[in-house]
Amino acid sequence: MSIDVYISAERIQSRIREMAEEIDRWIGGGEVLCVANLKGSFVFFADLVRCLKSSRLKVDFIATESYVGTQSSGQVRILKDLQQTCRGEKLLVVEDIVDTGLTLSKVLEHFVTMHCPAEMRVATLLDKPSRRKVEMKADFVGFTIEDAFVVGYGLDYNEYYRNLPYIGILRNTEER
Ligand code: IMP
Repeated sequence: MSIDVYISAERIQSRIREMAEEIDRWIGGGEVLCVANLKGSFVFFADLVRCLKSSRLKVDFIATESYVGTQSSGQVRILKDLQQTCRGEKLLVVEDIVDTGLTLSKVLEHFVTMHCPAEMRVATLLDKPSRRKVEMKADFVGFTIEDAFVVGYGLDYNEYYRNLPYIGILRNTEER
């Protein structure tokens, strides 16, 4: 197994600064709750919120699970919910990657039924539209990528490689 650099650490940081400007315009200075979907988004989330200018920004975390190795199980489980209820404020869901779209669809459904945000937007670092199984579109997208299994910058393969500072393509994995 080997890893090729696909998106460098420098490109990621510069794109995050651009995304933050767009997101700041949407926040508009009001209350916003930024929610990281763990574990994959933890690095992106930490970098993104530090680029956002709002002084009325809170953070919280949910955790979902769907992948085993490089395969999506198709079954999305919410392992951890928000610590606080989100009512009447803007909610920004932060994802590492939208692949089949099943996770995001489950997460959004969860927020609509269990919480009551005034407005909800999704920011994802990566988007793999060619793999969609359900129609899902993030509002703020870092990079649209080809159909390849990527690791690094929070994304894992069997829990490894999350600490890489760049996004890499994992070669020679089993067929998907
Ligand atoms: P989806 O439900 O298929 O859209 O997948 C969403 C989740 O699967 C992401 O939040 C990731 O944790 C994981 N995932 C999807 N594609 C990749 C990948 O290429 N590398 C690592 N994790 C991935």
